[in-house]
Amino acid sequence: MDKTLLYKYEYAQKMLGTELEVLIKEFERKHGYMPVEHVKFRIKSEESIQKKLASRGYEYTAENIEKHISDVVGFRIVVSFLSDVYDIVSMIGRSTNLLIKKRKDYIKEPKDTGYSSYHLIVLVPIYLEGYVEYVTAEIQVRTVAMDFWASLDHKIRYKFQEEIPEDVQKTMLEYSEDIQELDRKMYEMNKIMSKYEKE
Ligand code: GTP
Ligand code: MG
Repeated sequence: MDKTLLYKYEYAQKMLGTELEVLIKEFERKHGYMPVEHVKFRIKSEESIQKKLASRGYEYTAENIEKHISDVVGFRIVVSFLSDVYDIVSMIGRSTNLLIKKRKDYIKEPKDTGYSSYHLIVLVPIYLEGYVEYVTAEIQVRTVAMDFWASLDHKIRYKFQEEIPEDVQKTMLEYSEDIQELDRKMYEMNKIMSKYEKE
């Protein structure tokens, strides 16, 4: 990748990482508990960027990367409970350092594969000599259960490439429903727990 562009993405990743760290710490201080299990991040590999651009019929140029790939910088926040997903998302929405460009609630409406998560496309400011630029990044917020499902699904996709056997697809869709059910149960149990804590 073009050196200047890579530098911008690395800079944006640092800024976003710091912002999320601060927001999560503040959340913990205010609410008295830590909702986040772990945070992962990556810069999309050159190969994946190339593939994605090609699949959409674009040439591999710096301009096309910036224009058409919104997840060169990617963060994944894995939380304990369903309610934590929405709390974290609204917390990010209140940040004065980030702009939300797009949101996709695949929890309310899972993808056809069964995939569920909450996705945010955000604009991260980077401060260059004399001006500010906004870099696009993707934040995925999901529960541990959703993360478990997605990681198996990822392996399946990798193994079979485009041709996933029908029985495998069907079973994964069923498991996705099981996961959603489990998340609802865990959420209810957590509510019961907090009732006991108050007494
Ligand atoms: P991409 O071209 O894949 O980025 O799709 P998009 O621009 O329509 O964005 P979308 O919100 O659908 O998905 C972006 C990211 O979500 C992907 O890069 C994956 O990390 C994740 N994702 C989406 N669908 C699936 C799925 O069916 N299985 C798994 N494991 N991950 C998925
Ligand atoms: Mg993607």
